[in-house]
Amino acid sequence: MPCNCCEITDNAFSEAEARSEVKNYRKRGPANQTRLILEAVRSLGSKDAVLLDIGGGIGALHHELLEDVARAATHVDASSAYLKEAKAEAARRGHGERVNFIHADFTNVAADLPKADIVTLDRVVCCYPDFRGLLKAAADHSQKALALTYPRETWYMRIGLQALNFFQRLRKDPFRVFLHPIAEMDSLIKREGFERVSLRRLFVWEMALYRRVV
Ligand SMILES: C[S@@+](CC[C@H](N)C(=O)[O-])C[C@H]1O[C@@H](n2cnc3c(N)ncnc32)[C@H](O)[C@@H]1O
Repeated sequence: MPCNCCEITDNAFSEAEARSEVKNYRKRGPANQTRLILEAVRSLGSKDAVLLDIGGGIGALHHELLEDVARAATHVDASSAYLKEAKAEAARRGHGERVNFIHADFTNVAADLPKADIVTLDRVVCCYPDFRGLLKAAADHSQKALALTYPRETWYMRIGLQALNFFQRLRKDPFRVFLHPIAEMDSLIKREGFERVSLRRLFVWEMALYRRVV
């Protein structure tokens, strides 16, 4: 099925939004759900790892992990506004040479990308309709661990996301936020050879860390 997801996601995140997120990040550090991924990944004790950050936004995960866990990172993102800010911040931190930035829908370029030790998707599956294709490709690229955050399947998240998508429809904006079935995402990742080693929850977000066992 042809998909204009990259175009939709590119339009969904404005330059002003991306700039304001970097400002926030510089002032307050990573967001709470991003901190859960950071703690989980650091708990693995990896050093000199290669990171693949899918939909990394302003790049908080690689900005942080290049300090102690990763030696190199690839950041694939459908949003050019986010990539621009992520690149500038990486350069500011002296990491510019260690990050490969790719503007694309990951599912379209996955076949051409090398595998990584650690793959991360922080608040990404909820922006993408085909979570099966995205997670399968992500899992396939991970040699050691996969960490992701996604919205919790609670009554208030269902109502909140329905309301948000209703306003998107009214504004004739094709971008939607998805509450994908967590049990199905979990089974899919396990079928790809992983076991879940950590599960943490905030009010809105859940974080799961998987380790490759096969
Ligand atoms: C809500 S933002 C989250 C950004 C960042 N990870 C964070 O938590 O701050 C979702 C990001 O995922 C990206 N994205 C969604 N689907 C994608 C896909 N299939 N391939 C690459 N990037 C994708 C969007 O462009 C956007 O940067």
